[in-house]
Amino acid sequence: MSEELTRVVTWSDLVDRRPVRAEVEGVPLVVIRLGDEAHVLHRLCPHRGADLAEGTIEGTEIVCAEHGWGFQCATGESEAIAGADIKRFRVWVNQPLDEVQIDAAEARAFREDQVDAIAYDL
Ligand code: FES
Repeated sequence: MSEELTRVVTWSDLVDRRPVRAEVEGVPLVVIRLGDEAHVLHRLCPHRGADLAEGTIEGTEIVCAEHGWGFQCATGESEAIAGADIKRFRVWVNQPLDEVQIDAAEARAFREDQVDAIAYDL
């Protein structure tokens, strides 16, 4: 199955190690440039839902501004808190189009999983 590649942000607008907000298919995202790589993660911290775009980059982690939980940019994994990983989307940097892209179908599937999880919590 081929991907539905969708623009998230303009690649050349990204400043190294400065997180920015974006949204695809209703999913709040944080985009991080680390050198020649871009990372796209779910933007809401799993602790209390803070906006991770307000966080800082420490080494290869994005660190939440609220209580300091950290997540690996390349995987979304939390090394400190078991089970507190965040979704990391597959990323394409399209140089000719100057775009950071993700698969819109992956974003939709993630959003639908979130809705299902909320429904089970009710
Ligand atoms: S809300 Fe992110 S660490 Fe508490």
